[in-house]
Amino acid sequence: MPTLRWLIDTAERTLSAAVVPDPRGDATALAAHVLGSEVAHLAADAEVPAARAELFAELVAKRAERVPLGHLTGRMFLGGIEVAVAPGVFVPRVHSELVLAHGADVLRAVAAPLIVDLCTGSGAIALAMAHRRPDARVHAVELDPLALDWARFNAARCAEAGDTPIRLHAGDVTDPELLAELDGHVDLITVNPPFVPDGVQLLPEYGKFHPKQAIFSGSDGLDVIRGVLPVAGRLLRDGGTLVIEHGRFHQETVPGLLRAGGQFAEIADYCDHDRQPLYTAARRAR
Ligand SMILES: C[S@@+](CC[C@H](N)C(=O)[O-])C[C@H]1O[C@@H](n2cnc3c(N)ncnc32)[C@H](O)[C@@H]1O
Repeated sequence: MPTLRWLIDTAERTLSAAVVPDPRGDATALAAHVLGSEVAHLAADAEVPAARAELFAELVAKRAERVPLGHLTGRMFLGGIEVAVAPGVFVPRVHSELVLAHGADVLRAVAAPLIVDLCTGSGAIALAMAHRRPDARVHAVELDPLALDWARFNAARCAEAGDTPIRLHAGDVTDPELLAELDGHVDLITVNPPFVPDGVQLLPEYGKFHPKQAIFSGSDGLDVIRGVLPVAGRLLRDGGTLVIEHGRFHQETVPGLLRAGGQFAEIADYCDHDRQPLYTAARRAR
């Protein structure tokens, strides 16, 4: 029987040859998945039964084709919670931790905040906010029925684990009537919309294996963002905060759209840990 170390070393070489960005990390995560373990508990010298080694090799081959890691392991972690994902649903990105941190920070002095997560996908951001703020009322909106099913599954699981239940809505985040009953009352809106311009070449994980409606948004990537800003302006209370993720190429255009709309103040753009533009935050003008 092969040892785990040998399997991971071999997989790392396969994934490196396929230009997977983190070959060792992904090989280790797939090994943990196949062994039903956590990465921290893997024993390098353990012998791996043939059936498990075979399954591992199949998953490594798929990862070498650039199927996203989350679609192979079926899970992703964000903000202290685990969310289930599957092919057809956006795999939450670790970058969204910064959006969560910003949101949590602006809500520190707000008791029982009202939070809306737009374009919720698997529900990751909404559920992570609910996990962090048990006193919050959290609503989340998604257009794609498949993603919404996964958000429902994840929401039920988090509620079973003791988190405050969130409310999920099927809807288009650019709908001028969306969640009209919350108008002027929302303390925080988070949005991770599709923002890539149509036709841009992406890593296969995103360009080939993610649903197009989760990634692309018109010729400049701003169709959903343009549509969602007036909705956010309507939903937020005076002084409420919008945190919206965008593409690396939107660090001026998204703040510009917010300024042009006239509904927002304190508009600022923020970068990720690699100093790449990641999101814009703004407050609803009083
Ligand atoms: C980039 S993914 C983000 C998902 C999730 N917020 C996350 O960070 O993991 C964008 C999501 O927006 C959804 N979406 C795209 N256009 C939408 C629209 N007009 N209204 C509602 N949801 C939309 C997609 O189906 C997809 O699930």
